[in-house]
Parts: sequence; C-alpha cells; structure tokens
Amino acid sequence: TPVAAVLPAGGSGERLGGATPKQFCAVQGRPLVSYTVRAMERISWIADIIVVVSPENIEIMKSIVERYGHKRVTIVKGGITRHRSIFNGLKVFAENKFSNHLLQKPEVVIIHDAVRPFVEEDILSKVVMAAKEHGAAGAIRPLVSTVIASAADGCLDHSLERARYRASEMPQAFLFDIIYEAYRQCTDYDLDYGTECLHLALKYCKTNAKLVEGTADLWKVTYKRDLYAAESIIKDNLS
Ligand code: C5P
Repeated sequence: TPVAAVLPAGGSGERLGGATPKQFCAVQGRPLVSYTVRAMERISWIADIIVVVSPENIEIMKSIVERYGHKRVTIVKGGITRHRSIFNGLKVFAENKFSNHLLQKPEVVIIHDAVRPFVEEDILSKVVMAAKEHGAAGAIRPLVSTVIASAADGCLDHSLERARYRASEMPQAFLFDIIYEAYRQCTDYDLDYGTECLHLALKYCKTNAKLVEGTADLWKVTYKRDLYAAESIIKDNLS
C-alpha cells in the first residue's frame, strides 16, 4: 500500500515563548523537527514525507533537510491554522503540484505533528492498518486532567467525567480520498477553529474512526519544560 506522511510544522510556538518556534529548537544540537522526520524515515514503507512550514521558515527547513540528508522530504507552505497547513500538505498529492518530484498519491496518509518526535513504528502501523479497515484512525491517551467548561461569568459551568473521555493525540491515519474530501467540503469555520482531523473525516465523510491506545511518549512538545524532557529522552536513547 502506498503510504505518505504529512507533518504540520507551520505553527508559531507561542506557548513555548522565545523567538524560535518549538519545532526548530535545537535539542542535543539538532532541531526537533529533524528527529520527527528521522523517525518517519526509519520506516521503509512510508514513501513521501511532506513537512508543512510557515512561509518565513521555508529557508530554515530547506537547510535542515540539506544538513541532515532528509531525502524523502518535500517542503510545503503552511496556512494560518493547523487545519489550513494540513490541507495545503494534502493538496500537493491531489493537485499534483509537485509533479516534477514524482509524488505518488498515497492510499493512506499519516498525519503527525512535527513536535512529537518519539513516534514509533508500532503505533504508526496500527493506525495505518486501522485506517485501511475503518477509513480513519488515531492515537489516544487517558486524560491527565479533568476537562471543564466555564460559564460566561468565569465560574464553573460543568465538568466531564474523566474516565469516559480520552485525549486525541497523533499519529492519525486516513484513506487519502476520505480526508482530502473532508478538507475540501469543510467550512472556513472548521478550518479556522477546528483542532481535530478525525472529527472532519467523521462529519464530512461519514467514515468510522478507530481509536488506538498510544504511549505517553507521543506527547506534544508544547512548553519550554517539554524541550528538557525531550532532551533527556534523546540522551537516554543515545547512551
Ligand atoms: O498549535 P498546536 O500545538 O496544535 O500545533 C500542532 C502542530 O501543528 C505543530 O507541529 C505546529 O507547528 C503545527 N501547525 C501548523 N500550522 C499552523 C499551526 C500549527 O502546521 N498554522
């Protein structure tokens, strides 16, 4: 089965603070995004890897690809939200914009955040297999905190029963035609405020989405302290 991966890396990393978006921060001398790309490149059955970056970071990404020899990577210009960035990544296959690069339209596409470097073959093959069977699949984790909603006055409105809910993580995988059609049909509101690709696939393509339990190492590097955690995992793996 032809499988490709789209890695959104087009965010500004506001929550981390500092001038450099987290995906370009050096961890043990190497930019975070390069670890994530390497994790994908280690898997022989992933053909093309699309890295979506904001226009001002295209040159930085090009130099990373060059420096670390990421041969399967194609760099694509991102959008103002994560959904818009992912849509741009998918368009490359559908519209054959890079026909000179010989990008093959995949049967299954993996979507994985550039800021989750510790993704492994086990979870990737599980979500890909499940996507083939159900149309869509994604990694989940138990909730660490209870989710609550606040009312207009800033006081508690209601809370969700923690044991019944899961955090939606990455990677996710989709039959390409399903997720591309979902992005084509969805509204601007979805593209600007939505955070969940599985939701788009369900809402616009009426597919099933299989949920697959992932490991804690799939967490998203978000805050500065996450960079320290990532660094210590990488050091452990090296020693
Ligand atoms: O902001 P959030 O933590 O949800 O970002 C998850 C991933 O989506 C990050 O890798 C980030 O770079 C990417 N992203 C993107 N384009 C945006 C915003 C976020 O590719 N406009």
